[in-house]
Formats: sequence, C-alpha cells, structure tokens
Amino acid sequence: MQRGEKLYSGKAKSVYACDQDGALILHFRNDTSAFDGERVEQLDRKGIVNNKFNAFIMEYLEEAGIQTHFLKLISDDEALVRQLDMFPIECVIRNVASGSICRRLGVEDGIDLNPPTFEFFLKNDALHDPMINESHIESFGWASAEIVAQMKQETFKVNKLLSKLFADADMILVDFKIEFGMQDGKLYLGDEFSPDGCRIWDAKTREKLDKDRFRKGLGGVVEAYEQVAQRLGLEV
Ligand code: TMP
Ligand code: ASP
Repeated sequence: MQRGEKLYSGKAKSVYACDQDGALILHFRNDTSAFDGERVEQLDRKGIVNNKFNAFIMEYLEEAGIQTHFLKLISDDEALVRQLDMFPIECVIRNVASGSICRRLGVEDGIDLNPPTFEFFLKNDALHDPMINESHIESFGWASAEIVAQMKQETFKVNKLLSKLFADADMILVDFKIEFGMQDGKLYLGDEFSPDGCRIWDAKTREKLDKDRFRKGLGGVVEAYEQVAQRLGLEV
C-alpha cells in the first residue's frame, strides 16, 4: 500500500490518499505538541509507539463491538483507515479530575469522579478548543441530536472497556479524548487512541504515564508510553 497525495497534516499525524476506495493512510509522526500547538518537539520513536498502541486499542474496541475506522497496520508508523467525514468535536470522559477541569472548576487534582463526567470540546486550536454543550452542537449544525446521543453513548462504552483494560494492568485511565466521523451514513470512532490523548496513571504510585510528562517537562515521555504498552502485553 503506497501513500498518495497528502490531504491533511495535523499536529501529530498526517493523512494521505491511497489506492483503496474509501480508505486513507494515517502517518503517525514523532511530533509532540502541547498547549494547542504552541510547543512542538520531536520525540524519537513516538510515531511507531503510538501507531502500534492505537492499532492495539482500536482492534480491542472493535472486537468488543465498537465500530472504528481502523482497517490494518501497513508499516511501523502507518495505518490504513476508513475515510470519514469527521465531526469538529472532541468527546472527553473523566474518571478522575485532572487538567482543565481542575482549572475551570477549582476542584482538586486527583479526586475520583463518580459517576465519570462527560464533556464536549470544539476542535479549534485558535480558540483553544473551547468547551461546548449539546445545544451548541445542534444550533451551529456541527452534528444532529441523534448523532450527539450516539457519540456520547459510544464514548461511555469505550470508557467502560478501556478503564477495565488499564485497571487489569495496574493503571488508572484518568481521562481521554476521542473523535468520531461518518462513512456511508454510519458513525465510526476515528482519529486515534494513544497516550497523547489520554491520562494514564500507575494505580499504586499515581505516576504519570501519558502526555502530561511532556506538558510538565517531566522527561521519559516515550519510555512511559512504551511502559504502558508493555503492561498491556503489547510489543512495541
Ligand atoms: P483537558 O484536561 O486538557 O481538558 O484534557 C482532557 C483529556 O483529553 C486529556 O487526556 C487530554 C485530552 N485532550 C486532547 O488530547 N486534546 C484536546 O484537544 C483536548 C481538549 C483534550
Ligand atoms: N489540544 C491540546 C493541544 O494540542 C491537547 C494537548 O495538550 O494534548 O495542546
């Protein structure tokens, strides 16, 4: 499978056309960004680690009945995926308070959220991905009420499945962000699931094993991602 024209370049991945109808190639780069693209660094091996990590999670979710865009791995840092029309929306679930919710609501970092809380954000770096609600999504025509309900339901299912997967490997899935899109009238989980877009803590020590290591300058970023992968039984 050969890359065709480059269609889009995001902060950590590029999207290419390919010769399979209705499919695209995702290239996972080593670029690592934080603060809406204000800080970008190259981290050796990150593209490979995230590509394999994402493939593992997408296949796990697919087997558990979540429809995902993932089709197959095609190289160390590339995957073949369904071509989706993406919604400009990020779906976030938090099991433990950390990051922006602590700043916005003045709550203590590390408190358990029971039940887990759900938030929508608008994908817009220039506006710093503002939080939006279901009414905004409908009024501005970003998605229908039916799709909103479906995205929310799928995100809760993903949370249930992955929280258990991580817990069984002595880790806490603190929070995560996922994105959805459509192909032929069907909703699919798109984009990626990797430690770039979630928070994962060691269950005992609460050591950070995700992109917060980069945001906070703690070092050992890719090493932490590899540790998470290894704990899940994945060779990277
Ligand atoms: P936050 O605490 O910054 O709102 O982020 C919550 C989780 O969602 C965290 O794991 C990071 C992830 N996330 C992204 O990866 N990209 C985004 O644009 C946003 C808003 C969140
Ligand atoms: N949207 C945020 C950014 O790119 C998410 C993150 O910090 O990873 O900065």
